[in-house]
Amino acid sequence: MGKKDFYWGASTSAFQVEGGFGEGGKGVATTDVRNVPDGIADSKIASDHYYHMLEDIALMEELGINLYRFSFNWTRVMGEGMEPNQEGIQFYNQLIDACIGKGITPFPTLYHFEMPQAFVTAFGGWKSRECVDRFVDYAEVCFQNFGDRVKLWGTINEQLIVSAASDLNGNHETDVDEKMKQMYQMSYHMSLAEKKAIQRFREIVKDGKIGPVCSMQVVYPESPSPENILASKNAEDFLQNCFLDMSMNGEYPKSYSNYLHTKGWFPKTKPEDRLILKSNKPDIIGINYYCSTCIRAVEKGEDTSKLPPFYRNELFTLGNNPHLVKTKWMEFGIDPEGLYIGMRAIYEKYKLPMIVTENGLAFSDVLEDGTVHDDYRIDYLNQHIKQCERFIEEGYPLLGYSPWSLLDLVSSHQGFKKRYGLIYVDRTDTDVKECRRIPKDSYYWYQKKIKENY
Ligand code: BG6
Repeated sequence: MGKKDFYWGASTSAFQVEGGFGEGGKGVATTDVRNVPDGIADSKIASDHYYHMLEDIALMEELGINLYRFSFNWTRVMGEGMEPNQEGIQFYNQLIDACIGKGITPFPTLYHFEMPQAFVTAFGGWKSRECVDRFVDYAEVCFQNFGDRVKLWGTINEQLIVSAASDLNGNHETDVDEKMKQMYQMSYHMSLAEKKAIQRFREIVKDGKIGPVCSMQVVYPESPSPENILASKNAEDFLQNCFLDMSMNGEYPKSYSNYLHTKGWFPKTKPEDRLILKSNKPDIIGINYYCSTCIRAVEKGEDTSKLPPFYRNELFTLGNNPHLVKTKWMEFGIDPEGLYIGMRAIYEKYKLPMIVTENGLAFSDVLEDGTVHDDYRIDYLNQHIKQCERFIEEGYPLLGYSPWSLLDLVSSHQGFKKRYGLIYVDRTDTDVKECRRIPKDSYYWYQKKIKENY
């Protein structure tokens, strides 16, 4: 894992760090209007990165990373969605140039959870095929404006999550059956949009690499009973293979399409989609990994309606893994070896190089003696990096490791109560203060780790 051939990075996403709501021509995003419960921070100021960008890049340089994984804010690049917003483009030009100037490779993701609210209002967002074209136009604006300098790209971050979470995609359908149907339709449109965007990418950024960022599923059966084993296989198909098989081979796993047909949830497609889906293969896979998932069969008459939509079916449900240590914010348990197990399975299936795009520990950090003594995070990162080293030593192609997150940011659902950053951002959910940056112990530990490996 030496300097020349390995990316040591750190990650963020636009709506979780930037803030700058309504600034510089930014349009309104789904994440700007979502219903955030009282007492929890929203994205309007977030970590105020919009106004601290150069300071944050200076901290990245001091940290010693050579990769910054971030995302473009769709509504900063495209305003309300239809026309490029020059001020937003300028903001990212400045960010990209500053990173490159410090020897940091910019690695943006096109779509990390937020999208123009105007599209949801006008045509239902991803429910409509119209959204595919709007995404491709947006991707093309990014490739044309940044592709001369940016050579490493992510398409969609965690399609599993973004197609299911109503407050991110704006699908607030209340009819239970219709909601499920729409989730699968939206996901299909996202897959198609990804492929069409890759097609444009090949024409515009000839020497670049691009690929999806998956929420890696490391699925363990709760017990060796055949029912639980089958449930865990089903879960793999529904939580991961349905996205990656589409990205790589342009088709769904059989078990997935059979089930959707039976339920009447199979998405509407067009014959001409087939060729687009079958071509335009990605070059890399981004791996987001926090913990493994334990799965069991659904019991007769069991109510799964309170679980996230992708668990609402008769084929599998969440189990409990007694072998892992669980914490308040990591309720599935901590499982470093799962990172190795999951990446190995993905490599054997798709044979593409990978980059760990997210991996980190959530904790309610406390500022003490002017800093944060987060030895629990150091331990988590250390154990997961060891699994990456093992993976590389065994000859698998891992291009980089980029933990979540560079700095504290608004969690996707729990504000600033839980934090992941290497850098503390001095604000709370209700008091924004000055958002002062304070490197934590984990920052200095990671700095040393990178130095030793260069
Ligand atoms: C991933 C996302 O799902 O997990 C991030 O890509 C997110 O955006 C991270 O922040 C951690 O999840 P959460 O819900 O704790 O913020």
